[in-house]
Amino acid sequence: MLVTAKEMLEKAVAGHYAVGQFNINNLEWTKAILTTAQELNSPVILGVSEGAGKYMTGYKTVVGMVKGMMEELNITVPVALHLDHGSYEGCLKCVEAGFSSIMFDGSHYPIEENIAKTKELVEICAKNNMSLEAEVGSIGGEEDGVVGMGECADPNECKSIADLGVTMLAAGIGNIHGKYPANWQGLSFETLAAVKELTGDMPLVLHGGTGIPADMIKKAISLGVAKINVNTECQLSFAEATRKYIEAGKDLEGKGFDPRKLLAPGAAAIKETVKEKMELFGSVGKA
Ligand code: 13P
Repeated sequence: MLVTAKEMLEKAVAGHYAVGQFNINNLEWTKAILTTAQELNSPVILGVSEGAGKYMTGYKTVVGMVKGMMEELNITVPVALHLDHGSYEGCLKCVEAGFSSIMFDGSHYPIEENIAKTKELVEICAKNNMSLEAEVGSIGGEEDGVVGMGECADPNECKSIADLGVTMLAAGIGNIHGKYPANWQGLSFETLAAVKELTGDMPLVLHGGTGIPADMIKKAISLGVAKINVNTECQLSFAEATRKYIEAGKDLEGKGFDPRKLLAPGAAAIKETVKEKMELFGSVGKA
């Protein structure tokens, strides 16, 4: 059964660890993440971007696949199925499809509009027993080969959004999606501490979990980060393992690649990445 992210994140704040959000793209990724969470007795959040949702043919397919897989594999650890960086319309579609959690990314709107739309979604989520993540201060990343630096959120704006009754809050603290450029300044712990000061026990979310050094991750957790998103690192480990398998070329003669064998090394690599992150975030054994 899917659960919301509320209880697992409240426990994480109290226990000073973080729950990983790992993005899924297909059956192999989902299976790799769910089985690793179960083996390590860790809570987990499956993130689905709008693009990945579309790729998997729609949110209803995703819900069906995840729920079916959890039942068939006897997954008993807490699992939240969460829309990542949703538009307002995307959020409504995921409510309808049966997700247990959504993120509304209103960070690119003027703050008044972000507040108004987030407020509406707080009510919708309450009615549907879902958790809601909001964002203040946009998180940078690569677009058309140009890496934008992450913004630092205004702590007062964070408080205005947190006070609406969202479950968790993503505040930009200089973090970015994808690989960090060589001249990256690091996370702004000053901003994080100021946001924490004003938002109290609100679980804070750190996006762009790929490539942040372990000591910064630990410090962020000590300052109230209870959810950390990882996507690129799983993609990289998947791609590297698949490349090696293809280059080994065993199956290039005769029948060609057996699709199940072709995807197995990538899935095994994702399991390793997820395990490493769960250990670093401290969520192992916390289910
Ligand atoms: P990375 O791709 O940098 O790991 O970030 C993932 C993320 O924040 C998804 O919302």
